[in-house]
Amino acid sequence: MNLESLLQDRLAPALEAVAGHPVDPAVRSSPHADFQSGAPLALARELGRPPREIAAEVAALAEAELAGVAEIAVSGPGFLNLTVSDKLLTASLRELAIDGRLGVPVAAAPRRVVIDYSGPNVAKEMHVGHLRSTIIGDALARMLAWLGHDVVRVNHLGDWGTPFGMLVEHLLDSGGDAEHSISDLTAFYQAARVKFDTDDDFRTRARLRVVALQSGDPRSRELWRTLVAQSERYFLDVYERLGVTLGPDDFAGESRYQDDLDAIVAELGEKGLLTESDGALCAFPAGFTGRDGVPLPLIVRKADGGYGYAATDLAAIRHRAGTLGGQRLLYVVGNPQQVHFAMVFAVARAAGWLPDGVSAEHIGFGSILGADGKMLKTRAGDTVKLAALLDEAVLRASAPTIGIGAIKYADLSGDRRGDYVFDLDRMLAITGNTGPYLQMAYARICSIFRKAGSEPDPAAVTEQALTAGRLEPALTVARPGCEPAVVEPAERALAITLLGFEAAVTAAAGQAEPHRLAVYLHDLAQAFSVFYERCPVLRAGPDVRGSRLGLAALTARTLHTGLFLLGIAAPEEI
Ligand code: ARG
Repeated sequence: MNLESLLQDRLAPALEAVAGHPVDPAVRSSPHADFQSGAPLALARELGRPPREIAAEVAALAEAELAGVAEIAVSGPGFLNLTVSDKLLTASLRELAIDGRLGVPVAAAPRRVVIDYSGPNVAKEMHVGHLRSTIIGDALARMLAWLGHDVVRVNHLGDWGTPFGMLVEHLLDSGGDAEHSISDLTAFYQAARVKFDTDDDFRTRARLRVVALQSGDPRSRELWRTLVAQSERYFLDVYERLGVTLGPDDFAGESRYQDDLDAIVAELGEKGLLTESDGALCAFPAGFTGRDGVPLPLIVRKADGGYGYAATDLAAIRHRAGTLGGQRLLYVVGNPQQVHFAMVFAVARAAGWLPDGVSAEHIGFGSILGADGKMLKTRAGDTVKLAALLDEAVLRASAPTIGIGAIKYADLSGDRRGDYVFDLDRMLAITGNTGPYLQMAYARICSIFRKAGSEPDPAAVTEQALTAGRLEPALTVARPGCEPAVVEPAERALAITLLGFEAAVTAAAGQAEPHRLAVYLHDLAQAFSVFYERCPVLRAGPDVRGSRLGLAALTARTLHTGLFLLGIAAPEEI
């Protein structure tokens, strides 16, 4: 049972009686009491009466409803403090302890959610922007799938466009064997680029090659495909290293939509949504203006007849909502593309490709900065290679799970919209809001169970094998003899935090904000550490020891599941 909603229900009639209409009880867990409601403050403004007076009136009226459930008291300027009875807390906790899903129900109305994430570019090294998209997108995919939604992962690979003329031509010049000539993707790309910029003959060949490629010339296509395949292998290696659930079947690059682009133009034209501007075909969605109030164009077809990034995204959105039946479309792409997506969504909406009930959301994120507060660059001023970054973290942490976990957690633990500084010292610290801190907290609980011997079997508590495909943590529930109970204040605080898991997961997935879950896990680890400091577990008498082991087991399970949903491994020993 959800304590928060239970308390809301009990408080609602009293609030309604005082207000004369239904009022949101706004019950939240609080550092000042178990739970707190600020509803009287809002009501006081509405009724023009002193807030403490309102709070006292509500408290008096609610007392009967709350009997046996919680104590109610007026506090501060007019808050209501709610202190849940030990009995109710214990009962709620025991319910949680035998629930394999830790109180998180499967969505009553599952939706098909299409998540566009990672989206690196072929023949180019992934950079830190792709790192963020990959990590955030994967956390969202994991959470939404666990909540029972039907998640479709889409890796919108940049695998098409003018650079491929030069890349294919360069591949031919180097013997045509991608595996041999492109061990270093960046070097390959840069060599092609240099030739393109300095060699007239090469430039002409590259331009002709684009035309050949786009008109389906078999040899050109074959060479292009080897390039794409080579890059895909490289990206899959990175995903595996990162523990990201994107697989070979999730690649759906820009090239997939090429055959739809003429139809996109035709449909938009029929609906009167296209305007010619300097030879280009543009859509001008309402409400988008640049400086001086000039309407902003979304260029659907360029003056030379070619299609670009926007056209492909229009075809992709039509495919995702139409063919794939997506009901919620997420695009995990950096903040700079915010206007692009807002315009694509507006045009798709106007064209009828995004019907009512289908949402499209740009899940933007900030940049990773260097110590100087500017975009992360190498000392030589180049963009930082992802692999180098991961290598360094793993080296410094001297274990892949810790190093990778630290990078991922640092990316997920702050509001995604903000920038953050890439600082390995901070990320790898074992204190503070870091991945290693949470991994340590989990490992520490596992060691308590190792010391406790056979009760309960530590493996039964901590084993979280992946079953049923990519995303089901197998949760083992607590053993008899270890039913948790709460008496001490530190036990109560831990219990209330444990009961907040559902709210944290739901908020993180619903608002596409993984940091809500990360912050929760950090709070949980802290609540456990206070509990462990104040309440002896192994040295306690048999009853208390069982109960406290039960609390520890539930904490371990919650930490492990939460970290799993963020995509972070939690080893039993560090
Ligand atoms: N390849 C793009 C880039 O590197 C990201 C693709 C994002 N997804 C999309 N549907 N446009 O910036």
